[in-house]
Amino acid sequence: MLSYQHAFHAGNHADVIKHLCWIGVINSLKKKDKPFTLFDTHAGAGTYDLNDAMSSKNKEYETGISRIINTGAEHDSLPELLKNYLTLCEPFLAKHQYPGSPAISATAKRATDNLHLMELHPAEFDKLEANMGKLHLRKMHVHKRDGYEGLRALTPPKPNRGAILIDPPYERASEYGEVIKGVEQVFKRWQQAQIVVWYPLLSERAGAKHGASELMCDKLAALGKPCFKAEICVEKNTPEAGMYGSGVFVLNPPWQLDSQLESALQNVVLQLGAKSSDSSASTHVSWINEDH
Ligand SMILES: C[S@@+](CC[C@H](N)C(=O)[O-])C[C@H]1O[C@@H](n2cnc3c(N)ncnc32)[C@H](O)[C@@H]1O
Repeated sequence: MLSYQHAFHAGNHADVIKHLCWIGVINSLKKKDKPFTLFDTHAGAGTYDLNDAMSSKNKEYETGISRIINTGAEHDSLPELLKNYLTLCEPFLAKHQYPGSPAISATAKRATDNLHLMELHPAEFDKLEANMGKLHLRKMHVHKRDGYEGLRALTPPKPNRGAILIDPPYERASEYGEVIKGVEQVFKRWQQAQIVVWYPLLSERAGAKHGASELMCDKLAALGKPCFKAEICVEKNTPEAGMYGSGVFVLNPPWQLDSQLESALQNVVLQLGAKSSDSSASTHVSWINEDH
């Protein structure tokens, strides 16, 4: 059953950490002229109209991207990765939109790089196709299919360079296991894949899902690849908090992504903490398997 709709959450703190990390990965791939391939297994609708009924219901962007964009700080004084993220978001925000991961990849990739977007929800897929179709981009493929099945069918890419974003809704407790299986299967066929997995940090209120992200990270680390994780917490992990933050687990990370992301997130949490009276926003980046 697919009921999750990302429009309710577009531009929130979870999108901020996920999209910062993903832009960092793409930036690093762009350092070489050789084309690369990006895979987005859980693409969503591509872009989000922040005025529509879903996005404006809880206005989650107001405690995410809006906090960061409205600091008044000159871009020049910001960490490079944060500057890249804000520069990419600005034209969308000017139209009162937020770019989802497909729009971010499509904007950041070069004409020679490939992009595969996979979305299973029929209504979300229709929006994705319409939103991305407007861009008339070369080498962009929109698939109505299961993201993990798509990875099995489409990897390894030629040439053998690229990255995968895995961003499931985690509505079902079984989705954590599906991520592990999906990542394992990719590495059997594509050892060099750079993989970003987003995960929620959930308090005891989440019941069976409480602790599931932590367990998933342990199992991903046990695959033995170089990996680090970066997290932001926007409130304290009290039993009743629910989702108190989120993280990205990066396997085969590009060189220096850890420090670039850490600088950007340290700046971000200052803004997330600054205007929220009950918030104690913090960030933490830690290597699990060091890259030697
Ligand atoms: C968190 S949203 C994606 C947000 C998007 N990655 C972004 O950052 O803008 C998750 C999406 O995955 C879709 N989905 C759920 N299970 C899927 C599967 N097995 N394969 C492909 N898409 C799936 C949902 O319909 C939903 O649109």
